[in-house]
Amino acid sequence: MMARCGRAAVLVWLGLVAIGVTALLRVGLVSEPPQGARRRPVGFSALEKEQLREALRGAVKIPTVSFSPGNVTTSAMEEFGAYIQKVFPRVFSSSFVHHEMVGGYSHLFTVHGSDPHLQPYMLLAHLDVVPASDEGWEVPPFSGQERDGFLYGRGTLDNKNAVMGILQAMDFLLKRNHRPIRSFYIAIGHDEEVSGHDGARKIAAKLESAGVRLAFLIDEGLAVLDGVVKGIKRPVALVGTTEKGSITLTLTVQRDPGHSSVPPKETSIGILAAAVSRLEQNPMPSLFGKGPELATFEQLATQFTFPLNIVMANLWLFAPVVGRILEWEPSTNALVRTTTAVTLFQAGVKANIIPPFANATVNFRIHPAQTVEEVLELTRAVIADDRVKIRVQEAFNPLPVSPHDEGSFGFQIIRRTIHEVFSDVSAIAPGVCIGNTDSRHYLNLTSSIYRFSPIWLKAEDLGRIHGLNERISLETYERGVQFYLHLIQNSDLPELPKPHKSLHEL
Ligand SMILES: *[C@@H]1O[C@H](CO)[C@@H](O)[C@H](O)[C@H]1NC(C)=O
Ligand SMILES: *[C@@H]1O[C@H](CO)[C@@H](O)[C@H](O)[C@H]1NC(C)=O
Ligand SMILES: *[C@@H]1O[C@H](CO)[C@@H](O)[C@H](O)[C@H]1NC(C)=O
Ligand SMILES: [Zn+2]
Repeated sequence: MMARCGRAAVLVWLGLVAIGVTALLRVGLVSEPPQGARRRPVGFSALEKEQLREALRGAVKIPTVSFSPGNVTTSAMEEFGAYIQKVFPRVFSSSFVHHEMVGGYSHLFTVHGSDPHLQPYMLLAHLDVVPASDEGWEVPPFSGQERDGFLYGRGTLDNKNAVMGILQAMDFLLKRNHRPIRSFYIAIGHDEEVSGHDGARKIAAKLESAGVRLAFLIDEGLAVLDGVVKGIKRPVALVGTTEKGSITLTLTVQRDPGHSSVPPKETSIGILAAAVSRLEQNPMPSLFGKGPELATFEQLATQFTFPLNIVMANLWLFAPVVGRILEWEPSTNALVRTTTAVTLFQAGVKANIIPPFANATVNFRIHPAQTVEEVLELTRAVIADDRVKIRVQEAFNPLPVSPHDEGSFGFQIIRRTIHEVFSDVSAIAPGVCIGNTDSRHYLNLTSSIYRFSPIWLKAEDLGRIHGLNERISLETYERGVQFYLHLIQNSDLPELPKPHKSLHEL
């Protein structure tokens, strides 16, 4: 997850505490196994388990940190490139896998399937991580140490598990002499945590100019949540079908400087402070139920314990009440509305001088049912003071909601794969990501963008992402490799089976 827009990656997960669901018209999508015979996970040999674990450990030990846009640890990233070449020689030497570097340190693999007529898809991940110092960690964050079945280290959940999981799956497929039928890309960005402008954006531009269109794309995002969603006891899997948008504004008030012995009635600091306070006192309107979060609650309704299951199954009636309850906690409030966060405030030059300038930075995360323009308009109306100049630093709309109905190839292939590999999950539903990922750079290549990490998260794990003691259980990581193995094989299907026909009937 991106540091700047998703530094609260935590929020992505915590936001889910809110998730609920309803009317079971969609039961077919929720509780029935997906169409077709289910592939059983193939067990890994003891040697393979050892290999995949050591490969991930080695990856975690390379401190591929991104500090800020333009300031990433390039030498570690170079080392990382050499490392994957060393541990996955089969991938780099296969006659149908083409590898190239993009933007200096990002990797793009093109896996040429045997049927060039099938539209390709993409597996997306990023090799950079947010900074971590030893302080507060049970083991140093780049030491790759193991404790109680968990591999600790920065990047074990975000996102070296995916980088290594995808390449490991590819390596095992090649070892078993499997050539995929459908072509696909593996794109590994190097600056996701600080915008993705040099990595993902360049890869997307390159493919776009080559006329590539993708059947679907899967990136990090939501996950299997076990005891995270309040009111749901069994584990559920959420697949992100959209991400909130974002606006960063700079507010500036300029006044004539002067001596503090003859002050004006209002200084730039006073004027700006009042404006910022009005923004905090007047949050953006609650939009609960007006966006894709409704589908999440609807599809998970039966999973809630009584009486929440009744409430969630009848959101047509209870949405206003549920919305109000969700507003209580910052983590769930983020699902309900466009959030407002005042993040920087700078003013003043000297103790006895009337400040010429006061500047503030405000970051909004836009609810999927709202736009940049609407948020700007509301902001101007709330500030309602011409002396406060508003400048847009950066803005993008919430991402379009990816299709997730029975006919959506990518979504159904991902669902089937989750059912196969995480068979202990009781429901799968679409969800909203509160943070942003590299996937938004690929909008021109496909409308089917899904955000799911094959990881198993309990409530106490949420804070580990971008936080202290990030770790992954080795059992979960093995399942992650299985997930990509199955996903690649399931994607070979030329099209989804017609409803009510299982695969072996075809
Ligand atoms: C990059 O960021 C790190 C950490 O903030 C800092 O120590 C270093 O000086 C920065 N490097 C450059 C070239 O800005
Ligand atoms: C505030 O913003 C103005 C205009 O962008 C700039 O000239 C000034 O240096 C800034 N002042 C502070 C204290 O950041
Ligand atoms: C998609 O294409 C449009 C039009 O060519 C371009 O302006 C836009 O920047 C592209 N979007 C992305 C995310 O690259
Ligand atoms: Zn990430």
